[in-house]
Amino acid sequence: MVKQIRNKTLWVTGASSGIGRALSLRLARHDNIVIASGRRYEALAELQKLCPERIRVLDCDVADDDAMAAVPERLEALTGHLDMVVACAGTCEYDDDLQLDGLSYRRVFDANFFGVVNTLRSALPLLGASPAPVFAALGSLSSVVPFPRAEAYGSSKAALDYFLGAVRADLCRTALKVVLIRPGFVRTPLTARNDFAMPFLMSAEQAAERIELGLCKGRNTIDFPRRLSWPLRFLGSCKALWFHLCVPKLTRIRTLRKH
Ligand SMILES: NC(=O)c1ccc[n+]([C@@H]2O[C@H](COP(=O)([O-])OP(=O)(O)OC[C@H]3O[C@@H](n4cnc5c(N)ncnc54)[C@H](OP(=O)(O)O)[C@@H]3O)[C@@H](O)[C@H]2O)c1
Repeated sequence: MVKQIRNKTLWVTGASSGIGRALSLRLARHDNIVIASGRRYEALAELQKLCPERIRVLDCDVADDDAMAAVPERLEALTGHLDMVVACAGTCEYDDDLQLDGLSYRRVFDANFFGVVNTLRSALPLLGASPAPVFAALGSLSSVVPFPRAEAYGSSKAALDYFLGAVRADLCRTALKVVLIRPGFVRTPLTARNDFAMPFLMSAEQAAERIELGLCKGRNTIDFPRRLSWPLRFLGSCKALWFHLCVPKLTRIRTLRKH
């Protein structure tokens, strides 16, 4: 079995930090051409310095519909085709005390859900020029069961799961492979803000290795680590157990706010 992606042209969003950065560097070092995206040009330029002959920078805000309208042309200026896209761009905001702040929910959905819709739309013409194109996006194991405080984040990832499934259904007679990647806890700036225990925490480099291996195996869904994904998937199919045994220990809310 092939364990490395080689000699492909890829677009990775969220490449300025965390998982997307580690994956971009890993893939570039495996002789692929990587178009690295994020909003922070400086961070992308720093990444490019590590592998200048294989990393190209395309700074863009995936949540900005107007700016994304120009991305297909900008991509075409960099490459004639895309073999693979890995949409890593994303954000997390927890809903402490169930504030239900609409602006926070919109920010999370804009990046995690609409950002992937915009990414796919921008990439499709160039993916169509590859004989075996792949579109992959980062969901999360947090969408397997409902976690307290994760109303916005978990919902955006659950919506992404459904979206990718529907795209897979629509395009099942075409060459495009659609892949959902659901990591557990990975040490990145995104999780550095977490104030709770993160079981089986792994490095961004380890996550990048799992993602590349899963893509090589041709998986439709890449869940890792198994020590976390298997129990969560079991609890996801037995929600009564999840709500009865686990959730009361996880929630921080004891009483309903009166106003
Ligand atoms: N870390 C984990 O434990 C974990 C677990 C499950 C799933 N995930 C998912 O994995 C993905 C990567 O997360 P990470 O942990 O690597 O986080 P991270 O280090 O915070 O990286 C997030 C990346 O997304 C980019 N980004 C955010 N909003 C963007 C926007 N509107 N437009 C373009 N780029 C944007 C950021 O770049 P700029 O700031 O330069 O825009 C950055 O490169 C996310 O989708 C996250 O939900 C992470």
